Amino acid sequence: MYAVPQPQHAAPRSPIRGPALPIGIAVTAIGVLLSLATVPTSAPFEQPEPVALMEVPPVDVEATTAADPCADAVVQQALAAGDDAATVAAFGGGESFRAAVVAGNAPCISLEDPARAWVVVNKARPLAPVDYAPPALVDLPVQTTTRSGQVRPEVAAAVGEMAQAAEAAGAGRLGANNGYRSYGLQVTTYESNVRALGQAEADAGSARPGHSEHQTGLALDVVACAARCGDLDGFGGTAQSNWVAEHAWEYGFIVRYEQAGIGTTGYQPEPWHLRYIGVDLAAVYHQGGFHTMEEFFGLPAAPDYAH
Ligand code: DAL
Ligand code: ZN
Repeated sequence: MYAVPQPQHAAPRSPIRGPALPIGIAVTAIGVLLSLATVPTSAPFEQPEPVALMEVPPVDVEATTAADPCADAVVQQALAAGDDAATVAAFGGGESFRAAVVAGNAPCISLEDPARAWVVVNKARPLAPVDYAPPALVDLPVQTTTRSGQVRPEVAAAVGEMAQAAEAAGAGRLGANNGYRSYGLQVTTYESNVRALGQAEADAGSARPGHSEHQTGLALDVVACAARCGDLDGFGGTAQSNWVAEHAWEYGFIVRYEQAGIGTTGYQPEPWHLRYIGVDLAAVYHQGGFHTMEEFFGLPAAPDYAH
């Protein structure tokens, strides 16, 4: 039982939220290389050159998006088993999965399914059902600074590996503030932020009930710990924050709210808010230079609520 729900942001706070991500991930967006069309230069009656057979490219994104990946038995089995990583692999990997979704060629993949690692929750896409709760939650394997210290089992395992790697790399100890927040806890969290900050500022940093990734069990807020753990606003600029910005993708996480994504998400930067999407998708997200899940899956920006 929670004695007092922990608001995500201490009040009073400075008008400027936590510092922006200190160093952007130095990856430029991958341009799509169009194949060069060969313009015929020969005289009209000249015999054409014999056509050389082309090698099949190793990453056959076009074939994947042109075919029907949802008809594939391996995809169907992975989906039915609730195995998100196997589903992505059955699509041919993260980029083939993303390309098929963006092309509208993956009707078996619902970006609205809150049980899946690829669910997209934002100001225009509330959870369905609005009071969704994940079937399984476990304690985070790091020091926690609130009582909301649970996430889904696969997320907890990834956090454990990530925290070990951060420490081994000399970046210091990672802890966690909030993991899973229920619909009810999001009600009190959001309301307390509105009372402390006013609605406009609250909406720039705290999701309305039913609109928070924390309710999926796939998100957590990390903090930097030494003898004691710091708070959220103190996270940006720490060695832990720099390491997380560079390496969290290797463990299946993205920094969900970046400076570059403000116009798309409607949230100020939150270098502490990590969202688990699985290792394959996070690698593609990182290597593609994406800054929001909306861009990643070709969804419209959602900087504001409809009402
Ligand atoms: N701070 C993020 C936006 C949330 O409340 O889910
Ligand atoms: Zn968060």
